[in-house]
Amino acid sequence: MRGKLVAGNWKSNGDLAANGRLLGQVRAGSVALKGIEAAVCVPYPYLAQAQQGLAGSSVAWGGQDVSQFGAGAYTGAVTAAMLADFGCKYAIVGHSERRSIFGDTDAMVAQKFEAARQAGLRPIFCVGESLQERESGVTEQVVGRQLDAVLAVSGVAAFSLAVIAYEPVWAIGTGKTASPAQAQAVHAFIRGRIATGDKAVAEGVRILYGGSVKAANAKELFAQADIDGGLIGGASLVADEFLAICRSAV
Ligand code: PGA
Repeated sequence: MRGKLVAGNWKSNGDLAANGRLLGQVRAGSVALKGIEAAVCVPYPYLAQAQQGLAGSSVAWGGQDVSQFGAGAYTGAVTAAMLADFGCKYAIVGHSERRSIFGDTDAMVAQKFEAARQAGLRPIFCVGESLQERESGVTEQVVGRQLDAVLAVSGVAAFSLAVIAYEPVWAIGTGKTASPAQAQAVHAFIRGRIATGDKAVAEGVRILYGGSVKAANAKELFAQADIDGGLIGGASLVADEFLAICRSAV
């Protein structure tokens, strides 16, 4: 049985004072969470704060991206080993904002996934189509291509520890959520794609849904057969909302 995971993606939000409050509230609320895993992915400068605030709790933490390179002359890049040094369990790779704003290509995302994996981190690997792609009927081609880029570099076995997040770009931060049926269809496609490489790995891999998840719609989404939790942006900045989403996954 796959355990559910609800991961917050704070994006470029927060400061020491606000994060301190949020981490404290999430930590306190997490005591009542049974049977699901919660995590928060915070901006790099606040990793130490997340580590201090969450150490010894059931809530994991992670980065929102990672360098595809190791240590060396890569100004501005943060390596997977550095994330591991701060106790990160997860690193998001391939988020659509990284792809569309910062130019992360499928090949770069695959290298980042592999760098994270080699450092012992669990990648939260994001895939998803744009509105135009959905309307042109190429969702499966796009998501399949994104998946295949990582499978080609890291192999299917790498998905026994990795997490996949399906995030339709048109649903991120827009208030438009994919319907549970729309999301389930793509999740089933993703699991099927992994199953062509290894059925047992496909059965075990957690596939999160992301895109305007809130407490009001989480339960129905998480009830779908192939939806194993969520990657939560805006709603993860409000402790009560984030914790309510976590409870919806139980
Ligand atoms: P959202 O973001 O929940 O604010 O739509 C999700 C994400 O980008 O991971």
